[in-house]
Order: sequence, then C-alpha cells, then structure tokens
Amino acid sequence: MQKLLIKGNKELKGNIYISGSKNATLPILASTILASEVRLSNVPFVKDIFTMIELLKFIGIKVKIQSNKNILEIKNEKKKINTLAPYKLVKTMRAGILVLGPLLTKFKKAKVSLPGGCAIGTRPVDLHLFALKKLGAKIKIKDGYIIAEARKGLMGAKIKFPSISVGATENALLAAFGAKGKTTLSNCAIEPEIKDLILFLKKLGCKIKISGRKITIFGNSLHQKKISHKIIFDRIEAGTYLIAGVLIGKKIIIKEIDPKIFRHEIDILKKMGAKIFKTRSSITILKTKSLKKMNISTKPYPGFPTDLQAQLMVLMTQTKGLSKIKENIFENRFMHVPELKRMGANIKIKNKTAYILGPSKLTGAEVMATDLRASVSLVLAGLIADNRTIVNRIYHLDRGYENLVRKLKNCEAEIKRV
Ligand code: UD1
Repeated sequence: MQKLLIKGNKELKGNIYISGSKNATLPILASTILASEVRLSNVPFVKDIFTMIELLKFIGIKVKIQSNKNILEIKNEKKKINTLAPYKLVKTMRAGILVLGPLLTKFKKAKVSLPGGCAIGTRPVDLHLFALKKLGAKIKIKDGYIIAEARKGLMGAKIKFPSISVGATENALLAAFGAKGKTTLSNCAIEPEIKDLILFLKKLGCKIKISGRKITIFGNSLHQKKISHKIIFDRIEAGTYLIAGVLIGKKIIIKEIDPKIFRHEIDILKKMGAKIFKTRSSITILKTKSLKKMNISTKPYPGFPTDLQAQLMVLMTQTKGLSKIKENIFENRFMHVPELKRMGANIKIKNKTAYILGPSKLTGAEVMATDLRASVSLVLAGLIADNRTIVNRIYHLDRGYENLVRKLKNCEAEIKRV
C-alpha cells in the first residue's frame, strides 16, 4: 500500500496552481445526463472524478479524457440508456447519488444504490428523497437500492428544505431541470460549486434565478447544442495550501483562484496574524512569526467550511492560547485528532467542540489517514513536525487532491510517495 514520507520543518517557497473543483465537477458530470454534447475544462483528475466517469460510462454516456489538458469531451447520443447506478460505484463515492435526479427527470425512472455510511458520519439521503417526492416521484427502498419512478414525469413544486444540504440541493436542481413548470427551492445550500452548476445548467438552456437561499427553476427548457464550461477553482484545495503557507511558508503564491470566493477564510487567517496579500486571481502568503488563537464554527457557505476544519486545526496547534472549533456539519469529523495528538498536539474534544491548546512542538510519527480532509491535515502536520512523518492509507488523498506531492515539491517540500 502506498504511503507518503515527509521530512518536516522545511520552509516552503514557490507558486501553487490550484486545480478545478472536485465538488463542482461531480454534479456537473451528473447533469451531462441531461445534455447532448459537452466539453469540460479545468477538470481535476482525481479518483472521485474517475469513479463518476465510470458511472456515466456504465449508464451509456461517452466520455473522452484529454488528461494532459484536464479536459473531458462528453457525448450523450444513445436514446436508450441504463437508468441504474450500481452499488460498486456508488459505495466508493457518495456523489454517485447525484445521477438520481437527472435520470429520473429524463427517463421517468431510476434505480440508484444507497451510498451507505462513511467515515465522517452516517450521511443519510432523506433530504434528496424528500425533494424528489415533492416533485412527484414515487420512491421505494429495496435491497439497498432507491427505486424511483414518475410515470407521467416530474412536476414543478415548492420545496422548502428542513435543513441545508449541498447534495440534496444539487439533486433537486437537476430533477427540477426536466420537470414541467416552475420549481421553487428554499433553504438551499449556496456553495460556489452550486453556483457553478447553475451556470452550467443555464448554458444548457435552463432558466434559473437565485436570490439568497431561494432558487427558482423553470423546467423543461433544454436545448441541444454543444456547450463548453470551465470548472470553477477548488476553494478547499486553495484553502489547504493557504494554511500550509501560513504554517511554514517563506513566500507562497497561490494562483488561478478568485480570492473573493473564500474571503471569509482569508479574513480568519489574517485575524490570526497571517501575512496575506490578495490580487484579483492570486494570494501571496509571507512568513508569519506569531499566530493568535481563534474560535470558529463550521457552517454552510458562506460560513467556515467543514472541509477545511482539520487543516485549520493543525494551524491552531501552533497558535498561542486556547482555540476552539465547533463542528456543526458532520458528527464524526474529528478523526484526525488522535493522530495529531500522537504527533504532540494538545487537543481535547467535548461533544461537538475541539479545544486546541498551543503552541505545541509536533514530532514526526507514523500516522493513518481516515478520510480525505483528515489525511491532508496529517500532511500539513508532517510539514511542520520534527523528523520524519509517514502518512498511510493515502488513497483517501487521491480522491480529492490533484498532484499534491508535485505541488508541494515545487515549493521545496521534502515529500515523496513510496
Ligand atoms: C458536500 C461535499 C462535502 C462537504 C459537504 C458539506 C460534495 C461532493 N461533497 O457533501 O465535501 O463536506 O457538502 O459542505 O460536494 N444530510 C441529511 N440528509 C440528507 C443529506 C444530508 O441529514 O439527505 C446531512 C448530512 O449528514 C450532513 C449535512 O446534512 O450532516 C450536510 O451534508 P451535505 O451538505 O448534504 O453534504 P454532501 O452533499 O454529502
């Protein structure tokens, strides 16, 4: 099994080019079920994207990969396609559930495997099904599969989500795309990745309006011409390298981003004492001498993202005083904590809150990755630790970070994959 070896305490210096967003690409790929011909650029070639491509191919959509250019050419020509998403593909990547809305709205039926639990929490799909039922779907759960049907097609409806979910908002949007009449979704997630999906759906001919957390979709307005779309940058990848820069950067420049989209995170780091300078499409991070403690709570966008919580926690091990992180999105997202403690961090958890007392000198250890963001937090810890850190189970990292080793090596980090 592959692992990462990191020799810590080496200052980082250089440019980092941010990839396209995995979380924007996944729903856009699912929505190609509704399109005829699509060219996607700035696609991050990470494991989850390849799993979604496999799922699309299984369904009957042609996908051509131009790997050296991060481009996908997608053709959806078959009249009869497979409306099944099998367990073997959905279990490894929960976003497989996103094909449910588009298959159902276009073909009036779909059978999609239930994704099951995952390391960071139970992650149910009740909100996805709630929205589809409101649009007129009949849904049964049988043998681990969601079996959905809408014999006369889906009908526009008014849907208020009882709580905010990124995936359920996306699935509802994609289903409403092909429904008859107007759909109003309220209490929606409004992550930048959802806005990118909306931009894509508009190019496909769909009329969509967004105002605060309310999205109105006028369904059934598909046109069949070829469209092109450039995927938005990955704000979580950018945030991860931003934190790396604050932790141990001499001078790091993060490029091909829009700092406005994650200004909240940048402001938090600045309040902690980081030296950060923005331009329209880049951020420069200079060496930070001393960091102040901070309290944050994870929230849906524009709040602080749960996907950056583990990385920020590593930074908090280096601040002076007691910092706090309250995790409001997933119930089991502190699995990096025991590993960070083994490296010397002083962290206690009570209910949903982690208390981090810093600064602590971290020392290298052999650690185990448990999920995507937890793994990258261990890499960050390894970069600042004394001696050598070995990160095991790095297949989690491959799910979401494109060329992580190469990007860090370009900044003079001593890291290698063995
Ligand atoms: C997406 C992101 C993930 C991120 C998360 C929260 C993708 C591919 N993944 O995941 O990286 O961490 O948003 O920003 O974009 N919930 C329910 N019922 C449902 C759906 C969700 O109770 O039907 C709960 C979840 O358990 C969780 C919360 O709602 O507690 C938010 O989850 P959600 O926003 O749906 O996350 P994902 O779309 O799975």
